[in-house]
Amino acid sequence: MIVENDFIFNQNTALIDKANFEWSAPSNIALVKYWGKKDHQIPANPSISFTLNHCKTITKVAFEIKNSDENFSFDLLFEGKPKEDFKHKIQKFLERIEVYCPYLKKYHLKIDTKNTFPHSSGIASSASGMAALAMNIMSLEKALNPSISDDYFHQKASFLARLGSGSACRSINGKIVVWGEHAEIENSSNIFGLEFTSPIHENFRNFQDTILLVDKGEKQVSSTVGHDLMHNHPFANQRFNQAHENLSKLKKILETGNLDEFIKIVESEALTLHAMMMTSMPYFILMKPNTLKIINKIWKFRTETNLPVCFTLDAGANVHILYPENYKVKVLQFIKDELVGYCQNGQYLCDEVGKGSQILI
Ligand code: PMV
Repeated sequence: MIVENDFIFNQNTALIDKANFEWSAPSNIALVKYWGKKDHQIPANPSISFTLNHCKTITKVAFEIKNSDENFSFDLLFEGKPKEDFKHKIQKFLERIEVYCPYLKKYHLKIDTKNTFPHSSGIASSASGMAALAMNIMSLEKALNPSISDDYFHQKASFLARLGSGSACRSINGKIVVWGEHAEIENSSNIFGLEFTSPIHENFRNFQDTILLVDKGEKQVSSTVGHDLMHNHPFANQRFNQAHENLSKLKKILETGNLDEFIKIVESEALTLHAMMMTSMPYFILMKPNTLKIINKIWKFRTETNLPVCFTLDAGANVHILYPENYKVKVLQFIKDELVGYCQNGQYLCDEVGKGSQILI
């Protein structure tokens, strides 16, 4: 089993003066949700997600050696402009990963980052953002130690991204990624995301995710606060057990292609996530009236057409509509005819399953 200490860098390697990299990393959408964590970003239950293709963060990092290695030193540009509110997050992230990447304090980092999805769309950019930064850091590490394997590169990138934002560890590599130990998934780990390598039925090839932007405002509950709500939650243990069971079921479904069963698990997971928030203390309702209107429209459309279309939700009001690629034309027509009116400014984003992070330079 791979443990945290396996990711500590060997300090005896010679440093290089300068290096420039650029990576894109996608967002991901969980099918079995991660909600609740233990210390050090260890998930309370295993989760699985589709990696997205178009909703991405693109991050360039220029590393330049400096004289002192007392403090971290970095500049941050977001969409070409300095962004003070992100600096605190990055500083915290660098501190958390220092023991695994001690070389970072010897460099000044110029971080230049942007998202492909619209500004403040209510789509969390922490997963793609932390994953893209972690990939750049691993490119530097690979330049310092070219002998590391591709597997190690991905595992450590996922491990680092996880320390920035839990679900970011599922945005590194693979179309479907599992994070968290699960009895039936060999090598699954609490400390990094693992590509789901069982054969996947062709029904899930190029699966579509159309994201309806219902509420683009600031998150009402940060994920840190949200995960904390699972401590002493009256239904926590049942929920964590259910996630294990749902992942067992989903593993088979992904292999057999049973879309009816897929829909049941995915929608139930989304509603359970929200039910956990509604039944915690303090309690929250993150869905908006239009979220419910969209869900009801999807159910009606599914009954009338028999098309395998379903929804999932993150910790917010936006709705992700999931469906196989061959129904794209019909579903997009349905969205245009019946759902756009429930989206803020009529906005929605068309995405699909992608492969993970990609190097650009
Ligand atoms: O990665 P975090 O700490 O922002 O948590 C994300 C949790 C959900 O998006 C609600 C579910 C998930 O598994 O992605």
